[in-house]
Amino acid sequence: MIYRKVQDIVLEDVFLELPGFVPGIQLLLKIEGVNPAGSIKMKTASGLVESLESDGLLWDGARLIESSSGNLGIALGMVCAQKGHPLTIVTDPNVSPQAEKMMRALGTDVVKVTRRDSNGGYLKTRIDYIRRRIACDPRLIWLNQYANRANVTAHRDGTAEHLYKEVGSPDALVVGVGTAGTLMGCVEYFAAHSPATRIIAADAEGSVLFGGPPAPRYIPGIGASRTPEILDSSWTFEKVVVGEAETVRMCRRVARRYGVLVGGSTGTVLVAAERAGASLSEGSRMVAISPDLGDRYTDTVYSDSWVAEHFPQAVDGAGEDAAAG
Ligand SMILES: Cc1ncc(COP(=O)(O)O)c(C=O)c1O
Repeated sequence: MIYRKVQDIVLEDVFLELPGFVPGIQLLLKIEGVNPAGSIKMKTASGLVESLESDGLLWDGARLIESSSGNLGIALGMVCAQKGHPLTIVTDPNVSPQAEKMMRALGTDVVKVTRRDSNGGYLKTRIDYIRRRIACDPRLIWLNQYANRANVTAHRDGTAEHLYKEVGSPDALVVGVGTAGTLMGCVEYFAAHSPATRIIAADAEGSVLFGGPPAPRYIPGIGASRTPEILDSSWTFEKVVVGEAETVRMCRRVARRYGVLVGGSTGTVLVAAERAGASLSEGSRMVAISPDLGDRYTDTVYSDSWVAEHFPQAVDGAGEDAAAG
């Protein structure tokens, strides 16, 4: 297969079955990490930039600006480099050194804010920074994935439609929530094409998305310290909140049992899938969306010393430090 643009290398037909994960239930993990950006955000990035282009809102001399904890920044870095659009990514100290280096290697201008917001995260600080910049520089265009409908349509017409075409109507579909683009895209698509599919939204404890109290969090991508404008709770979906220690334990358990290193948020999604499995009948089929793989988490989720420092209750001796001994 010959591709003409890096962002077109998105494989929508990759599902990994996890036999026995929930006894009596078929669980399929939709692997979104197998593209050059390494995450589901390749589709979000293409959707955000292409909607500006098709609406005629991207002029010569414009610079795009966006807030990202890593994955969207890398994906936008690729899309903007390929298309020749200048890009600034506003991130925070939780960004991995690897992600920051990748963005810079793609020619992206990376700005790191350092002040925690009133919810203990950095999202509000990043957004305040962007608002100040766009107020005094008319060349800047803010993509704003938290409020941009193109984030939802990228997943409705991409992720959800492909999933449905590949596996039909699962009994349950589990989706992690950060900006809620993937969730709302799936909710809208399945409401129209497979309303019997239960949509289960997984969030992290310490995130405010489903009304819980804010607290500092360490797993990037999932959860938020402010409610995204595109999250519309008037649609029908179930909400599950997972503690980060449980997330870390799940990632490490799946690595040893199935030989696949999944990203942090996939651990959250799988804990939600395990809980949902208890209410599904024998022979049901469940799909869980895995936004990225674990290579970006070897210094965090899969590092014994990092886990011992942040989640001592999740230590199991399964990470790289144990392997070296
Ligand atoms: C690793 C990871 N998991 C989950 C998500 C959540 O996806 P969404 O922003 O569509 O809610 C993201 C988004 O950045 C992510 O990078």
